Amino acid sequence: MAERIYIFDTTLRDGEQSPGCSMTVPEKLKMAAKLVDLGVDILEAGFPIASDGDFEAVGAVAREFPWVNVAALARSNKMDVERAAQSLKNAKRPRIHTFIATSDIHLKHKLKKSRQQVLDEAVAAVTLARSYVDDVEFSAEDATRTDWDYLEEVSKAVVAAGARTVNLPDTVGFSVPDEYGAMIGRMVKALGNTAIVSVHCHDDLGLAVANSLAAVQNGARQIECTINGIGERAGNAALEEIVMAFNTRRDRLPYETKIVTEHLFPASQLLTSIITFGPQPNKAIVGENAFAHEAGIHQDGFLKERTTYEIIDPHSVGVPESKLILGKHSGRHALTKRCEDLGFLLNREQLDIVYQRFTTMADRKKGMRNDEISALAREVLEDSKAARAS
Ligand code: KIV
Ligand code: ZN
Repeated sequence: MAERIYIFDTTLRDGEQSPGCSMTVPEKLKMAAKLVDLGVDILEAGFPIASDGDFEAVGAVAREFPWVNVAALARSNKMDVERAAQSLKNAKRPRIHTFIATSDIHLKHKLKKSRQQVLDEAVAAVTLARSYVDDVEFSAEDATRTDWDYLEEVSKAVVAAGARTVNLPDTVGFSVPDEYGAMIGRMVKALGNTAIVSVHCHDDLGLAVANSLAAVQNGARQIECTINGIGERAGNAALEEIVMAFNTRRDRLPYETKIVTEHLFPASQLLTSIITFGPQPNKAIVGENAFAHEAGIHQDGFLKERTTYEIIDPHSVGVPESKLILGKHSGRHALTKRCEDLGFLLNREQLDIVYQRFTTMADRKKGMRNDEISALAREVLEDSKAARAS
C-alpha cells in the first residue's frame, strides 16, 4: 500500500513573496482555483500581517473554496497570530501556520534571543493559535542549521502546546539528502504519532526536490512546495517534480498524493501568465523542451517507440503533445514525418533534396520552423513539376 503524502502548496505565499511574483487578490483567486482543481491538500494563501492585500487574499480564498484547507502564515508573536486568525475567521477549514527561527545563527544575529526565549515564544504562539483554530502548524525556521537536540526539544514542546504539524524547513537550501533524511528520521521518531512531520526545502544548491524525497523516505508526510518551483531566492521544491517522481518511480517511491496530474502543465502556464517569468525551457515536467526531441537518434527511437526516450506520457501532465524539433541534429526520419504532417507527400528523390537543403539551412540556424520546412518542400515539388514539364 502506498503511503499518503499531503501536498501543502505555498505558491501564493512563499512563491508570491519572491521577486517578480507578487499577485493581486483577483490573481491569487484565479491561481487558487487552479490549485484546487489540481487537488492540493493545503493551500497557503498569504502572510496576513505583511499587507492588507495578503490579509484580504486569505479571506477571499477561504470564502471562495470553503471545502479546502486554507493556511495563513504568522510569525510567533501575538499580533501576527491574531491577524492570521482574523483573516481566517470565516474559513471552514482554517490552518494557522506560525514560525520562528531556531538556529543559533538566526538567534544571535537576527532575533537576538536565547534558546529558552525562542522556545517560550513558539509555545505561546501555538497556544494562542490553538485558541482560534484546531489546525495549527509550527515551523522551526532554518531547522537544518539548528542543533538537533534543541530542535527536538522545540518540536516536542509545540506539539504539547497543540501543534498538529511540525515543519522543519531547509530555509537556506543548505542541506543534502542523506543529512536531511537523517534529521527528519530522528524528529519523526521523537514525535511518533503525535504530529505530522512536514518538510519545506529551498533550492539554493538545486537539491530541494531531492531533499524533500529523502525526507519522505524517512517518515515526513507533508511536503511544502510550489508550482514551477517559485519562491525565495532559488525557489522552493517544485510541486510538479515531486508528484511526478512519485508517479513515475512507484517501485522506489511508494507514495501517493491526491494531485490530478493532468492539471500540472495548465497550472504552470497559468502561473506564468500571472507572474513576470516562466520556467526555463529545460525545466522538468513543465518546461518548453521537457517533451521535445532534436537529436536524430532520439527522434528515430521516439518515432519507433515513444518510451525509448520519454519516461512520462506528456498527456498525463497536461502537455498536449511531444515535439520533434527539427534542427541540425535531426535525422531524415523526423524530417519525412514532419513533411507528411505538413501535408507534403514526397518521393524518395524529392526527400533527398529537401533533406540536403534542410541540413544546409539548419546548420546555420538554431532550429527550423514549420513554415520554413513547408517552403522547402513546396520548392522541391515545384522544381520536380517543372522538370517533368520540360
Ligand atoms: O523557508 C522557510 O523557512 C519558510 C517558513 C516561513 C516556513 O518559508
Ligand atoms: Zn520558505
